[in-house]
Amino acid sequence: MSPANPVHNYKGIILAGGDGTRLHPLTRTVSKQLMPVYDKPLIYYPLSTLMRADIREVLVITTPRDQQAFVDLLGDGRQWGMDIQYALQPRPEGLAQAFLIGADFIGEGPVSLILGDNIFHGAGLSEKLTKACRREHGASVFAYHVPDPERYGVVDFESDGRAINIEEKPSLPKSHYAITGLYFYDREVIDIARAITPSARGELEITDLNLAYLRRGDLNVEILPRGTAWLDTGTCDSLLDAANFIRVVEKRQGQKIACPEEIAYRKGFIDEEQLLALASQQLKSGYGEYLHRLTQDHEVIVDEI
Ligand code: TTP
Repeated sequence: MSPANPVHNYKGIILAGGDGTRLHPLTRTVSKQLMPVYDKPLIYYPLSTLMRADIREVLVITTPRDQQAFVDLLGDGRQWGMDIQYALQPRPEGLAQAFLIGADFIGEGPVSLILGDNIFHGAGLSEKLTKACRREHGASVFAYHVPDPERYGVVDFESDGRAINIEEKPSLPKSHYAITGLYFYDREVIDIARAITPSARGELEITDLNLAYLRRGDLNVEILPRGTAWLDTGTCDSLLDAANFIRVVEKRQGQKIACPEEIAYRKGFIDEEQLLALASQQLKSGYGEYLHRLTQDHEVIVDEI
């Protein structure tokens, strides 16, 4: 790592509130982010993405109804060498509200936000995350080619590849590139979020925040390459598609996707003894056996986690 270009000490926020109305009746009593995606709860996926970026201090924002369930599942994070804290969002008043709710947690440093229902998977992702964490100034967002851009924040590019505009759910999208639910911001983000006013639908829009950075010339838009999976899990079909995708890849490779215990172990957040203790708590599902095998498997893992 070049000392002139170090990885900065980003904190992370997982926004895991929302009403999940498109999943009713599934989510009438349980948060969407606790729904299963094949072999683990949905929130493990965004949490793992932050861990892959070496982010160890995380704030989980939930509804008041669901907070205790998240605390029961994730605890204070110490078991994974993490520091996990919690905050409440009483009503879903927009993604950018995360920075107002999380202002004390963020303090003076840079912060990454990930939506609790977003799954990222693919080669080269770790490198892109690290690159984002090397930026001290401005914001980094990721764009992904989708067939139905009108459902998302859509980025418009100049012919030289420079981002020139972002439109929230446009009826006539100028490109097929949607902004995904993973964002990295410098310390200015809280002040910028405070200056935003609610949109016509009554939300503090993340697109307005990104536009503020774009206008300053401080927004980096990274394209996620073909072959990367960006899955959101907002509907019954997309939730099942995500589960099937994870199952197929995990079965074929014999490796788990988004296993926080494995990432913590491979990154050195926890040692072998701690991993074995975690394994012994969940042996019957096969999950613990997988963790156990990691300590016996002495092959060199050459790919990214
Ligand atoms: P959405 O899918 O837009 O909203 P939702 O989860 O409430 O679902 P539905 O549209 O079916 O009612 O939210 C995307 C993610 O962001 C999801 O993980 C929930 C989270 N979110 C919040 O935590 N707070 C908010 O204010 C909003 C708008 C979303």
